[in-house]
Amino acid sequence: MDTVLSGIRSTGHLHLGNYFGALRNFVRIQDEYKCFFFIADLHSLTTHPHPDDFHASVKTILAEYLAAGLDPEKSAIYIQSDVPEISELYVLLNMIAYVGELERTVTFKEKVRQNPNNVNAGLLTYPVLMASDILAHRAQRVPVGKDQEQHLELARVFARRFNNMYGEEIFPEPRNLVFQGGAVKVPGLDGSGKMGKSNGNGVYLYDDEKTITKKVMKAVTDSGPTEPNSPMPEVIQNLFTLMKLVSDQSTVDYFTEKWNDCSIRYGDLKKQLAADICKVTLPIKEKIDAIYNDDAYLSKVVASGRERARESAGATLSLVRKAVGFKSF
Ligand code: ADP
Ligand code: TRP
Repeated sequence: MDTVLSGIRSTGHLHLGNYFGALRNFVRIQDEYKCFFFIADLHSLTTHPHPDDFHASVKTILAEYLAAGLDPEKSAIYIQSDVPEISELYVLLNMIAYVGELERTVTFKEKVRQNPNNVNAGLLTYPVLMASDILAHRAQRVPVGKDQEQHLELARVFARRFNNMYGEEIFPEPRNLVFQGGAVKVPGLDGSGKMGKSNGNGVYLYDDEKTITKKVMKAVTDSGPTEPNSPMPEVIQNLFTLMKLVSDQSTVDYFTEKWNDCSIRYGDLKKQLAADICKVTLPIKEKIDAIYNDDAYLSKVVASGRERARESAGATLSLVRKAVGFKSF
């Protein structure tokens, strides 16, 4: 059985893009693969969150993971910083990662452009830490979106380089895992591009009904079709893409027909879309609240995840240390 691994940084709440693009699929594959899902709290330090918010952010993502259906009985669910073997592997992989290849990473160049006053070494070696997350469990499959593909490629480069350098096939080369039906790109409500935390165009699993309705009612539209069966502009397509994710086929068909005969009323469409989003997210929100406040449960989940992750990463690190030449006196 192949091992699947994925992580998410502990910044902010999870939005519909995270849910439909990633989390919902993770929930579905838990019986098919040996799964590791973790919260990348060390990665989040590259942007220096305040210590007062640090723990709550981790707890938030953890509660949202669990509420959405990740099952700690099936999968190892853990906090990155709870597994020191990952940090140890990070040190060792830093010795074989070249500064030049890290500087050429698109995400790094973007961060430098956005934030020229905070170009810390952690940002440069972000892909090395991510490779350590993956290689620590010798995971074969890592479901990532387009923006993370270059990082995954670097993980393969480091795996290959390490194996060659030490003459041992310790690390398999991790490959992307594309889910059934292909990758979905969840659009934002502002009519431009994908839903994302930093784009301010998202609906969050944690939003309440009023917030969701308000956001959807404000979604960007156009002035409406003027000719029957005209092609849809992107802003309208985006609303239909969201609708296909949350609504019944009959609802999608109904509004498609209304578009085609030019009788569509965007207010009606949005009201329906908001209601259907709520049907998906409000039950999850209720669970988030319950789980977030259940410290005893969370601490059990984290302890069991830590144990499983440390056992797996520990086994890898003994091979790695031996290959590198560490020996006990
Ligand atoms: P953000 O873009 O809000 O910073 P992240 O990069 O933390 O989100 O995303 C974490 C995971 O969620 C990734 O695997 C990514 O592929 C998925 N994801 C994020 N936004 C979307 C989206 N709009 N559509 C599909 N998947 C998404
Ligand atoms: N860099 C990933 C992101 O921003 C999060 C992440 C950290 C990750 N380590 C990982 C994803 C290992 C997959 C595997 O989305």
